[in-house]
Amino acid sequence: MKKKLLLVGGAGYIGNSIIKHFLKLDYEISIVDNLIYYQKFKYKNKVNFFKGDFLNLLKMKNFINQQDYVVFLAGLVGDPITKKYPKLSKKTNYKNSKIFIKYLLNQNVKKFFFISTCSNYGMVSSKKKAKENEVLKPLSLYAKDKVAIEKYILGFKFKTKSEVIILRFATAFGVSDRMRFDLTINEFTRDLLFFKKLKVYDADTWRPYCHVNDFAITIEKIINIKKKLNFQIFNVGSDKNNYTKRQIAQKIKKILKIGKITFQENSNDPRNYKVNFDKIKKVINFQPNHSVNYGIMETIKYLKKFYVKKKNYTKKMGNYFIK
Ligand SMILES: NC(=O)c1ccc[n+]([C@@H]2O[C@H](COP(=O)([O-])OP(=O)(O)OC[C@H]3O[C@@H](n4cnc5c(N)ncnc54)[C@H](O)[C@@H]3O)[C@@H](O)[C@H]2O)c1
Repeated sequence: MKKKLLLVGGAGYIGNSIIKHFLKLDYEISIVDNLIYYQKFKYKNKVNFFKGDFLNLLKMKNFINQQDYVVFLAGLVGDPITKKYPKLSKKTNYKNSKIFIKYLLNQNVKKFFFISTCSNYGMVSSKKKAKENEVLKPLSLYAKDKVAIEKYILGFKFKTKSEVIILRFATAFGVSDRMRFDLTINEFTRDLLFFKKLKVYDADTWRPYCHVNDFAITIEKIINIKKKLNFQIFNVGSDKNNYTKRQIAQKIKKILKIGKITFQENSNDPRNYKVNFDKIKKVINFQPNHSVNYGIMETIKYLKKFYVKKKNYTKKMGNYFIK
């Protein structure tokens, strides 16, 4: 019998790449997503697709109970959009996420993955890389709600039959079937390619990056692992992909060989953190397959193919998508 995988918020940037990966394996995949960006969802005929708010699933107890693995990805994602829509953000990322998670952890799902973010670290001294037990200093509404939900989930220890895993993803880059150009590497690549100019704020601040296709591999590995990882937290990414924004901009410029980069200090995003990924490497033997250079090159190829004419390039709720 096929294993059953439910992706909550699965029609997004990371969800699409998880679907693509798991469709090659022996899984029955279900997605709930309200397509908040009016995004086209390429896989709707290949998965069980429930269009709507994730809370609608609470009326389908039997369906939830049949799932083996649930990955919670839904929400308003990133600092700018949560700042722009604080009420909707609070409702989705905190209030309703809590309701859904509480319900789910009272059912019989084998493994529940909550997808969190390395943004939770906020600011870390540049002399060290944040491990999972680093004090969290979330700076944005987005990260504050992620931290609050992590804490809420940890309160279910010994109170649920499900195995619970929290994954703090590095900032993603690269091509997915629902693109995002509000992510540093994708955004910088687009700006240098299309507009031939790029303004980099706080160029020497650090972040970890991970290719969007590498996250699905982590989830597959954790699904298949024999040892119990119950209520463990993992940073997901790789130490070698900690970069400053200046380093990222220079990499892109080196590949494109066009465009003018200017720098400005003191933006309203003071995040600055390097992250340590030893735990995920040691416990599940995970290392990302894709380099930042690979991601830049495939994004350039994608942009040239789909956005040749800038008029095809539209913006809704701060997110870019194809008309
Ligand atoms: N992309 C990154 O760099 C990154 C880094 C760290 C963590 N994460 C986490 O990964 C997850 C997925 O991020 P993403 O980049 O794919 O973002 P995304 O915005 O592309 O995906 C989120 C999805 O949630 C859906 N959604 C929003 N509200 C919903 C609701 N009420 N009901 C049902 N669906 C709803 C959206 O339609 C969208 O498809 C998020 O939890 C995010 O915090 C992402």
